Amino acid sequence: MHIEIQRNADISLTKQIYHSILDHIRSDLLEEDLQLPSVRELSKQIGVSLVTVVKAYQKLEQEGYITSVQGKGTFIRKTNIKEAEKKEGAISYDWQLSIQDYLPRSQFARFHQVPEKIHLSSSMIDPGLLPNRYLEQEIHKMLSENPKVLSQYGEIQGDKELRQAMVEYLKRMDVPTTPDNILVTSGSQQGIDLVARTFVGPGDVVVMEAPTYPGAIDVFRGRGATILTVPVDSDGMRVDLLQNLCDKYKPKIIYTVPTFHNPTGAVMPTKRRRQILEIAKSTQCLVIEDDPCSEIYFERKPPASMISLDQDGHVIYLKGLSKILAPGCRIGILAASGSIFKRLLAAKANADLGSPLLTQKAIIPFITSKRMMDHLKKLRTALKIRRDVVLEILSQHSPKEVSWFVPKGGLNVWLTLPFWLNTDHLLLEAKNEQITFLPGSTCFPTNQENHYLRISFSYMNEPQLEQGVKTICNILQLAIDSKIKQDSSPYF
Ligand SMILES: Cc1ncc(COP(=O)(O)O)c(C=O)c1O
Repeated sequence: MHIEIQRNADISLTKQIYHSILDHIRSDLLEEDLQLPSVRELSKQIGVSLVTVVKAYQKLEQEGYITSVQGKGTFIRKTNIKEAEKKEGAISYDWQLSIQDYLPRSQFARFHQVPEKIHLSSSMIDPGLLPNRYLEQEIHKMLSENPKVLSQYGEIQGDKELRQAMVEYLKRMDVPTTPDNILVTSGSQQGIDLVARTFVGPGDVVVMEAPTYPGAIDVFRGRGATILTVPVDSDGMRVDLLQNLCDKYKPKIIYTVPTFHNPTGAVMPTKRRRQILEIAKSTQCLVIEDDPCSEIYFERKPPASMISLDQDGHVIYLKGLSKILAPGCRIGILAASGSIFKRLLAAKANADLGSPLLTQKAIIPFITSKRMMDHLKKLRTALKIRRDVVLEILSQHSPKEVSWFVPKGGLNVWLTLPFWLNTDHLLLEAKNEQITFLPGSTCFPTNQENHYLRISFSYMNEPQLEQGVKTICNILQLAIDSKIKQDSSPYF
């Protein structure tokens, strides 16, 4: 396990060690029962005092992540207490863990692949709500009519016909583009990565919302960026705090999800969108407008995209098709202009020489037909019903200390718990019930906050949502009751 220490950071060395080990545990890189280096070994390895390591280990132990067994060592403890004797079969420390990586939380995605019974942690769409059959037929048809699609490279920029189709599609959503300023990417995740590898180097400042989409955090961290955060309220990023930050630190990038923000669901009004563009202009920085699901609105259509308000080419717009069409096709687009676009195109060539032609071709007939709009209408209806089930169960069963934001679109409900509750711990209890949710700490790029959680309502059907959310409410209620009992005990 390699722990990267920043000696002149604001955050204490103990906290850095604590967070680093926690990231490794939550990423499943440190397995249950694995023995950690001794305090002495770790302090020598990273050049800090014994006390600093002891304090970090103590905090992890208090929170139930590790356990120390006298005379034997310190072990990872994810599930509940294992008898010390069982440590006989402990896994020995793995040399590979001493190889440093820069992506401590990216591994967390593997959590989502655990086949839980009720999966509320990742905002995927229930496959039953996507046009799989239709796409399958298109793939068959295309392969029989044009098998050469498998033996050719496509254009690095993306298939021309698809780019044209995306221009028409985006026009309906007030996103002005041309085939020449669209780049087809492997999902919007690749779009974020291309921007980061092109424009962000070690020490460059990137501004992100807090909380934000976890998949973007490690991309920027992996580039060695200094991440600064701006809190989110019900109108999205707090622009009143952004100006000072930008004046002082001159960021290279502002990353935002202005429409149905992930994870909170907030929608940024037009006025704030314009203010961000003004700030970007005055500080000469780029804005990534990440738009995975503006089509999924439950009331009125969201405000116009930031790129449509942008006069000067500051916005790099990302539209993924995973939440509306086919995550397995791995298709998204990036739209930008001028030399920014050209440099991103070069980065795409470096990354993969172009996205697979087969899936690009396969989706064209669907997105250019009337079926696409009909499908989106049905998708909105189905997801609204699921959102309402979650809201109804929350209003009936959640403890009064818990609050949430009612999303007017998107895929998630964001819950705020009393500050002393730690959803990293509660997740372990939920997993015992074969339920997952996303603990809020994964969504905070810098100071992790533990008293939030995200429930995604897009993957499970109504009965599963009902059962899952009721169980989560139960877990929350029990945790709150036990704290109240503890506080009123004469021994505390
Ligand atoms: C805000 C945001 N950006 C990007 C992505 C990645 O999506 P894609 O499948 O298009 O790569 C997601 C997926 O959940 C997301 O929520």
